[in-house]
Amino acid sequence: MVLVEGWMPPTRENYEKILFIWKLLYPAIGSAQFIIKWYGMGKTSKPSRFNLPGRLGWFLMEVPGFATLLYIMKTLPKMHGIDDLPWQNRVLAGLFVIHYSYRAVIFPFIQPSMAPIHILVSSMAIGFQLFNGTCIGSYLAAYGPVTEAAWAAQSPLPQFVGGIALFYVGLASNYFHDEELRDIRRRENHRQERLKAQSQNVNGSREVERHYQIPRAGLFKYMLFPHYFCEWVEWFGYWMAAGWVCVPARTFLVNEIFTMLPRAINGKRWYIEKFGEEKVGKKWAVIPGIW
Ligand SMILES: NC(=O)c1ccc[n+]([C@@H]2O[C@H](COP(=O)([O-])OP(=O)(O)OC[C@H]3O[C@@H](n4cnc5c(N)ncnc54)[C@H](OP(=O)(O)O)[C@@H]3O)[C@@H](O)[C@H]2O)c1
Repeated sequence: MVLVEGWMPPTRENYEKILFIWKLLYPAIGSAQFIIKWYGMGKTSKPSRFNLPGRLGWFLMEVPGFATLLYIMKTLPKMHGIDDLPWQNRVLAGLFVIHYSYRAVIFPFIQPSMAPIHILVSSMAIGFQLFNGTCIGSYLAAYGPVTEAAWAAQSPLPQFVGGIALFYVGLASNYFHDEELRDIRRRENHRQERLKAQSQNVNGSREVERHYQIPRAGLFKYMLFPHYFCEWVEWFGYWMAAGWVCVPARTFLVNEIFTMLPRAINGKRWYIEKFGEEKVGKKWAVIPGIW
C-alpha cells in the first residue's frame, strides 16, 4: 500500500532529495541550541499550555521512526522486484527496531517520572524520526546493498560482526546509565515513603517528580551525560556494520551528535548552577578530554 505516491515509500530520486535535506537540516536545528537557550523538555521544562505529559510526548515523538522503517521494509522491496533481502539488511533493520522498542515504547513507561515536553520539541523530534526512519529504511529495503556480493564488498563479515558487537556494547551501557538515573528517583521515592511511615514532615510527590541528584555510578564518575556518549557508541557500531559508505547510518550518528552535544553542554551548565562547581567537580559534559 502506497501512502503518498512517490514519497512514502520514496522513489530513488525522492530518497536522494530527502537524504540531502536530512544531512543539512538537523545539524542546523541542533546547533541552534547553542544560541537559543530555551529547551522545553527535561531539566529545563517550564509550565506551558503547549506542554504534553512527559511519557505521552516521548512515546509520540519516538515511535514514528521505527514505524516508518517497518512500513518501508514491507513495501519498497516488492516495488523493486526484490523477493528476498540478504540477512544483513534484516539484521540491521531488526537492530533499529530493538533499539526503538526500548527507547520509544518501554523507556517512557519505566521512567519513575518524566517532565512535561513542549509540543515544539516533540514536533522537532518527530521530524527527526521521520527523516531517519525513511532514509535508513529506504537504504535497507532497496537503495543500499541488496545482494550478498554487494555486502561482502561494502562490509566484510569481520567488520559487520565488529560493528554489531559495538552496537550491543553501546546499547547495554546506554541502558545501564539510564537505569542509574531511574534509580535516583526510585531511591528518593522510597526515602519519602519511609519518612511518611514515620510520620515526619516530607514534601509532596511533585518534589520526587522533579528530584535531581548528581549521578555517580559507572561512567557518571567522569561525565554528566554518559548515556548520550554510549548511544553514540551504539550508532557508531551500527554505521561500521552497515559499511563506511552507508550515508544514512553516518548521517544518523552525525545528526544525533549535533542534537545531543549542545544539550549535554547546556546540561553541564545546569548541573553547576543547581549543585555548585565544587559538587560537579572535574566531570566532563559528555566527551572526556574535550567537552
Ligand atoms: N535528548 C535527545 O535529543 C536524545 C536523542 C536521542 C537519544 N536520546 C536518549 O534518550 C535517553 C533520554 O534522553 P534525555 O535527553 O531525556 O536524558 P536526560 O535529560 O538525562 O533525562 C533522562 C531521564 O532521567 C531523568 N533525569 C535526568 N537527570 C537526572 C538527575 N540528575 N537526577 C534524577 N533524574 C534525572 C529525567 O527526568 P526529567 O524528565 O524529570 O528531567 C528523564 O526522565 C538517553 O539515553 C539518550 O541517550 C536522547
